[in-house]
Amino acid sequence: MSATSNEYIIREAKPEDLDAVIRLNRENLPENYPPYFFKMHRDRFPKAFLVAEFKGEIVGYIMCRVERGHLYTKKKPLGKQGHVISIAVTPRMRRKGIGTQLMLKAMKALREIYGVDEYYLEVRVSNRPAISLYEKLGFKKVHIIRGYYRDGEDAYLMAKTAEKD
Ligand code: ACO
Ligand code: ZN
Repeated sequence: MSATSNEYIIREAKPEDLDAVIRLNRENLPENYPPYFFKMHRDRFPKAFLVAEFKGEIVGYIMCRVERGHLYTKKKPLGKQGHVISIAVTPRMRRKGIGTQLMLKAMKALREIYGVDEYYLEVRVSNRPAISLYEKLGFKKVHIIRGYYRDGEDAYLMAKTAEKD
């Protein structure tokens, strides 16, 4: 599919996409990171760092990391976790399924390429759009992290088992 059609495409982020990703992150989320943080995650986990492109413009991204630790979904005590660090879609392109597709494709890469046992993320307790997106994908609230955000807001830790299918 060509990037100039009326459809959006989801693809792996290239180094030259990172400025646009950083801009989207700053415009759409209070949780911002220095440029090296984006570069490091793209370099280390390129198959799970995706962008949505529409008419040649980056309109969404998802950035993930693979960790080893105690599993929230408790299939076994220790395992590999796919941590969704950050996802955003530009306001005019929301509610078209882009967030869902970014999540599904990143989850597939985390499972099939990086071999994770589960996915997890933190989300503001007030962030209804994001919480309902994650719930639709089968994520469950595991617990609340009190005062997780800089402004004092609590986070839900949400997780889902990575099924091998
Ligand atoms: N109100 C209620 N439910 C919503 C809303 C909303 N405004 N937006 C999305 N949803 C839910 C709905 O169930 C929706 O399905 P439906 O449209 O069939 O009803 C479902 O999520 C899927 O929506 P998508 O169209 O796939 O999601 P979208 O492309 O709009 O992206 C996102 C969702 C990424 C949360 C977007 O709203 C956004 O960028 N928000 C600002 C940034 C943000 O909050 N990111 C998440 C922070 S947490 C983290 O990064 C780990
Ligand atoms: Zn996190």
